[in-house]
Amino acid sequence: MLEQFMRDVDTGLSASFKHLSSKYFYDDIGSQIFQKIMAMPEYYLTNSEYEILSLQAKQIAEKVNFKVPFNIIELGAGDGYKTIRLLKNLKGLGLNFTYIPVDISKKAIDILSAKVADEIPDVKLEPYVGDYFKLLINLPNSIPSLVLFLGSNIGNFKDEDARSFLSLIQSHLKPNDKLLIGFDLKKNPITIKNAYDDPHEITKAFNMNLLHRINKELGANFNLNKFDFYCHYNPITGEVRSYLVSLEKQDVFIQSLEKTFSFDVNELIWTELSKKFDFIEIEALAVNSGYKLEHHFLDSKNYFTDSLWSK
Ligand code: TRP
Repeated sequence: MLEQFMRDVDTGLSASFKHLSSKYFYDDIGSQIFQKIMAMPEYYLTNSEYEILSLQAKQIAEKVNFKVPFNIIELGAGDGYKTIRLLKNLKGLGLNFTYIPVDISKKAIDILSAKVADEIPDVKLEPYVGDYFKLLINLPNSIPSLVLFLGSNIGNFKDEDARSFLSLIQSHLKPNDKLLIGFDLKKNPITIKNAYDDPHEITKAFNMNLLHRINKELGANFNLNKFDFYCHYNPITGEVRSYLVSLEKQDVFIQSLEKTFSFDVNELIWTELSKKFDFIEIEALAVNSGYKLEHHFLDSKNYFTDSLWSK
């Protein structure tokens, strides 16, 4: 784990266009800051998807249309806030399913499982710690699965990575399985900008924590006062790109890599891509990765879609 972090930091900061992977945002402090992001009024994503999953569970069940006991497999466990709402509603409709949350983090799975067991004790729960694809390969053929990939996780993939990830999922699905996948939609650019470039500077703290983490875990000497946060939304491509900016020409030493990294004044470190989609792009992504798009479940503001795909 630490070796991987070291390697990725080394590769990212040695590149001619510096970058750090957003997966390293989510240490304990980062996860707490992300909870604050989700609670900001400007960060509409969570509420929009929550609205879909709480008000349209019946319509989702009708479109999924499994007549027999089925699995609900959630890729990337999250905190359960939205999923538990959906599961409660599906249970209320009398559906018979087993909930299988999957994540590589045992801690995330343990916390989520405890919450599910507490809040919906009558749901059958089979948590899985490990690789998504290993789980999908080992499922019995006889039971259909609804696979959930919620949030705007897919928006954090580069275009070609999104397609290959979704194709790989597709190749692991059985003929009747379905995928419910979240997409944040293109909308008024100011709404999107405010969600990421927030006035409370919580997103700034979230990005800065990455440097703090490198200081703490890899013995680096980043001076956080000499970096700032910048983010930009391009309404044509739908991409929000987040960056750290070096405010002066400076050298940073990373102890565990025994290496010095030089930053120019105003040099950027790219930290995250958060892509926003239109319906044409979603349809193309579905088709190009081998699915049929069945239905869009939209929130009342048309900000977000949970899109149902079949194999
Ligand atoms: N990855 C999530 C998203 O794209 C979380 C997030 C919100 C985020 N704001 C961020 C990630 C800023 C990096 C930088 O919505």
